[in-house]
Amino acid sequence: MSKAKPDKVSPDLDTPTDLPQAAVDKISASLNVLLADAFALYVKTKNFHWHVSGRHFRDYHLMLDEQSDAIFATTDQLAERVRKLGGTTLRSIGQIGKMQTIQDNNESYVPPREMLRELTFRDGASAPDPESRDSGFDALHRPGMTGPFTISTA
Ligand SMILES: [Fe+2]
Repeated sequence: MSKAKPDKVSPDLDTPTDLPQAAVDKISASLNVLLADAFALYVKTKNFHWHVSGRHFRDYHLMLDEQSDAIFATTDQLAERVRKLGGTTLRSIGQIGKMQTIQDNNESYVPPREMLRELTFRDGASAPDPESRDSGFDALHRPGMTGPFTISTA
């Protein structure tokens, strides 16, 4: 296996751009972190889709599948935007692991409410009290809403 040299781009990958190289590098670096996070979030959401349990299993299972599909759909757009700008993008799972800012969840069991809380609020951010009417959780269970976005507070 060859060692990739991130600062050496093959002339065959050269993409015409009006942007200065410094801008290409900066934008590409930011988009590649977003891309790594999209893959990390995709796997995390699939993990929860595969391991969700409890009385809302069917709704959560389907919702997490839909959400993972939507997240995965962003990856090609992000990667090809980097290439369009003249940058290079991710090449491996190992590179994703080094660049992701979203934390993996390798716990053997995660309660469904914690899954939703983890996917709803960024790592390190203080999650609001789900019982509070001012919390972000309200957006997930609007009055009259039924189905996969309904979170029981019982
Ligand atoms: Fe599935």
